[in-house]
Amino acid sequence: MATKTSSRPAATARRTTIGLKILMAGTGLVFIGYVLLHMYGNLKALGGEESFNTYAEHLRTLGEPMLPYAGLLWVIRVVLVLSLVGHAYAAFTLWSRAGNARRTKYAAVKTAMRTAWMRWGGVFLLLFLVWHLLQFTILKFSVNGDKQGASIQNNPYELVVASFQVPWNTLIYVLAMVALAFHLSHGTFSAQQTLGWTSTPHAYRRAKLVGHAVAAVVVVGFLIPPLSITFGLIK
Ligand code: HEM
Repeated sequence: MATKTSSRPAATARRTTIGLKILMAGTGLVFIGYVLLHMYGNLKALGGEESFNTYAEHLRTLGEPMLPYAGLLWVIRVVLVLSLVGHAYAAFTLWSRAGNARRTKYAAVKTAMRTAWMRWGGVFLLLFLVWHLLQFTILKFSVNGDKQGASIQNNPYELVVASFQVPWNTLIYVLAMVALAFHLSHGTFSAQQTLGWTSTPHAYRRAKLVGHAVAAVVVVGFLIPPLSITFGLIK
């Protein structure tokens, strides 16, 4: 009887841990979908000013007249913010639980290093996102001394080109994309594991491969426009 009573909190903790992992996986999949779409949209910069700005405007007129101007964009923003809150909450809660467990049990070195990369990489990505949104969405500044002001703020293509003509800004994005590559690769695999898609050796290998493929596509696709601008292929 005594054993039964004392195992109840452990069972509850196990259940909520599984719930938190499902929350991480689900919200992670929302991000994967979003970054794939965002990366595709950014590649329009290769088509020049009209192609990129038309795409930026379409993002805002999509769903009209059923939805108001920028209505769909706001739906996407709300879904992303809710997903971010859920993802970060689950991550920090699992983080603190693992921290308590570590006193009694040592994880293998490889797992411990991967966990550290996921945690600190995730914190770095969060800081990057703050910088990114301030730069391109909220304040709209190019960090390029002589290219500032209203004309650039009202022209998404000009804002992007002026911003990536500044090498240190490009470097921030390259570092963030390296962190994103690692996070996406392991995160995509973990999400599949949580959802029970890795139960056979074949499924396990496939899940690893999907993780690497998603990371490679997203990072290469994201870096093409900034690097093309920095190296003068887009002017
Ligand atoms: C090299 C990488 C990236 C570049 C060049 C880039 C570029 C841009 C640009 C130009 C905008 C403004 C679009 C507009 O207002 O029309 C934007 C917005 C945004 N980006 Fe990125 N981005 C990159 C990576 C990322 C990543 C990794 C994330 C993470 C999820 C992200 C999340 C967002 C979000 C949430 C917005 C705001 C959309 C909105 O609400 O208007 N971006 N990005």
